[in-house]
Parts: sequence; C-alpha cells; structure tokens
Amino acid sequence: MSSDTDTVRADVGIIGGSGLYKLDALTEVREARVLTPYGDPSDPFVVGELAGLTVAFLPRHGRNHRLAPSQVPARANIWAFKSIGVRQIISVSAVGSLREDYAPGDLVTPDQIVDRTRGSRDSTFFDDHIVVHVPFAAPYCERLRPALADAARRSTAAKIHGAGTYCCMEGPQFSTRAESNLYRSWGLDIIGMTALPEAKLAREAELCYAGLALVTDYDCWRVAEGYEDVSADAVAEVMRRNGAAAKATLVALLESAQPDVECACHSALANAIITPPDTIPS
Ligand code: ADE
Repeated sequence: MSSDTDTVRADVGIIGGSGLYKLDALTEVREARVLTPYGDPSDPFVVGELAGLTVAFLPRHGRNHRLAPSQVPARANIWAFKSIGVRQIISVSAVGSLREDYAPGDLVTPDQIVDRTRGSRDSTFFDDHIVVHVPFAAPYCERLRPALADAARRSTAAKIHGAGTYCCMEGPQFSTRAESNLYRSWGLDIIGMTALPEAKLAREAELCYAGLALVTDYDCWRVAEGYEDVSADAVAEVMRRNGAAAKATLVALLESAQPDVECACHSALANAIITPPDTIPS
C-alpha cells in the first residue's frame, strides 16, 4: 500500500546507509512518496510502527544503491522528513577507522565532523534572499547522541565508542595513503562520505540528528601484515556481518525514545537569521 505527503506522518526518521536498506522490525509497513521543492528524496519512505512510534525509513543511496555520496539529494531527504512531522533523525553509515582502537565491527556515535567535501553539495535551505547562520559547534544532537550510544550498549556485544570526530570526504574514490595519514595526524577518528550536508541541513530544519557509524575498515593507513587497504567489497562484507548490531541498536533506541521531548535543536533558527525581516520577500 502506498500513501503520499498529505496522509503520512511519522515521529522518528532513520536514514540507512551502505548495507542497511530496510528495517525488518517495523510492522504495518507502507510506502510513502513525499514531494519536496528540492525534487525526489533518495527513495520512497518505508513507514512502519515500532514500540508505539511511527518510524519513517529512508535508504540514503536508494534501495538498489544507485546514488553515489555526492548525488544523495540531502535537501529533499531532510525536507521530506520535516514535512511529515519527524523531529529526530538517526543516520546510519559505514565508516573507515583512522585509529587502531576503533576496530572493524565497532560502533561509534560521533560528536564532531570535519568537512573534507569539495563544497559542491547543496548544504543550506537558505540560499535565496535570506542569510541564516545556525549554530553548528555541536553538529550532532547532544541529547540524542548519548541516548543512541546507551541503546547500542544495552542491545549489542559490539564495542561502542560514544564520541569521535568524523572526517567527511567527497569520494566516491577512497583516500590516498597520504590523505589517510594526514587525517590521522589531525587527530580525526573515523572517515566516511555522507555525514555532510545531512547534519547541517537537519540543524537548519531544527531536527535532532545523531549518527550511528559502523566501522568497516582501517582505511589505507595501516600498512602491516594482516591488514588490507579498504575496498568496496570489504565494506559490504563487514556491513553484512554487523548490520544486525545497527538494527538492534535502532530498536533499543526506539523502545526508549521520547519523540516529544523539547530540545535546543528544535529552536536552532532562533537568533540565526541575519536578513532584516521586513526585507525578506514573502
Ligand atoms: N566508508 C567505509 N569505509 C570508508 C573509508 N575508508 N573511507 C571513506 N568512506 C568509507
């Protein structure tokens, strides 16, 4: 069964990354196409019920993984979540590790991001007649992030790192060894291609946003016997083996979620608009 923007509502949004294309725990599942001023989202939403909440699931790369990181329509995705009433988004992704103690199979709830995209991704909703500077010192929701880490600790045997700096690179090629070593020298912890502009747009949309990163590899800095440079196959294989940990974490989080709780994320635009109100065209 499918519905459209007018009829669908959801409490919580989940963005699935490489290897997480659906959430089996949802019941009463239906599909919803949501129209946005920014075109189509990555895929129709899969909307379902879990623990008394309505959950909207969206595979970031499309269900057949046809969108490269730079092609993900992040504005349409975030706008669509907002338009159906979602106030919290959990974003799942595969990442490489830039340090020895964040091992493949571990889970990370990052607390910081360093932008290494080329700046070509549409990363604001406010690019016409209005200038808005939202606070972004803490790019992930400071309330949802620890709740997500706790849910992971309760529900999986995986090692959980409750913080870490996510290096968001452009891709789609993986890093060179020199880049990988540079990021390590900067003290960055994990590397992926998708946290931006999602996190920026979620903040502009006044939504809580937290990341659940599954470590799949040691990128290409670890040159030693027994370690191979990252490859797409290796990422997919680890995601296949560890996708269950991500799903268990999501279920545990939803079982204890408080979608109506007030949060600073929900008023991120207060004091952020620079353009005088009487000069903004309506
Ligand atoms: N996703 C998973 N592993 C990655 C890596 N090493 N670099 C960038 N994105 C990744």
